[in-house]
Amino acid sequence: MQRRRILKMFAVTTAYSKLLQTDWFGTLLAEVAVRPRPAVGILRLNLGDFPALRNDFGSVRIGTSRLSANVPLGLFYPIVINRAPGNQFFALNSECTHAGCAVPAFNRSSNSSACPCHGSRFGIDGRVINGPASFPLQQYKVGFDAAGTLTIEIPDWPHEVVGSRVEGSGALKPRFRLKFLAFANLEFEVLFRASLAAGWNPIPFSLTPDGPADRTVFAGNDDFTEVYVERATDVGFYAVAIRIEQV
Ligand code: FES
Repeated sequence: MQRRRILKMFAVTTAYSKLLQTDWFGTLLAEVAVRPRPAVGILRLNLGDFPALRNDFGSVRIGTSRLSANVPLGLFYPIVINRAPGNQFFALNSECTHAGCAVPAFNRSSNSSACPCHGSRFGIDGRVINGPASFPLQQYKVGFDAAGTLTIEIPDWPHEVVGSRVEGSGALKPRFRLKFLAFANLEFEVLFRASLAAGWNPIPFSLTPDGPADRTVFAGNDDFTEVYVERATDVGFYAVAIRIEQV
């Protein structure tokens, strides 16, 4: 199946700024807040990318890795996003509360998400309809704006990025280093935006301080990884994003 880059999940943004001639470095949660510990992951979706979510009772399941035997190959369970009447959205951790299989997207004809392992059924808001599960699916906080963007907050997000300036590398342009734990079975890319109001764009990076900045994707290996990006502007924000797809 062709991998489709439909959206990004990014939790922690590392900022480099030279405002007022004063260099500062810091980590931000998404755009504005000082990052709490543990971090909250922010997932933004453009509804236009998901025809199934244009109508009431529509549903999609998205994730950072494929599944094998009903569990994710990578660290994170997929998220089931359901649309209820009245522009109400539910974002649910797909991890079944019975024994941990991933439940599928909501099915309108059965009015539930039915777990493939032992048949538990969950409602559009994650409540238990039928056991053996006895607890609802975990709900994530969801926001929805007039531009059609869904924002989903994922608590206890372990993705952390540390940024630092690179001095004296052999590269022609000054560089910035981003260090993060690249979990296995996930794919990462680096995003940049020149201001808080600007949109994020993927940028190329290098795996060495002075090598060619010509990579766009890094496959995680459960180890700390350093990537190097060129600093094209004095002020800017970088984010390490995990690729997401419909699963
Ligand atoms: S794991 Fe879902 S019903 Fe058992």
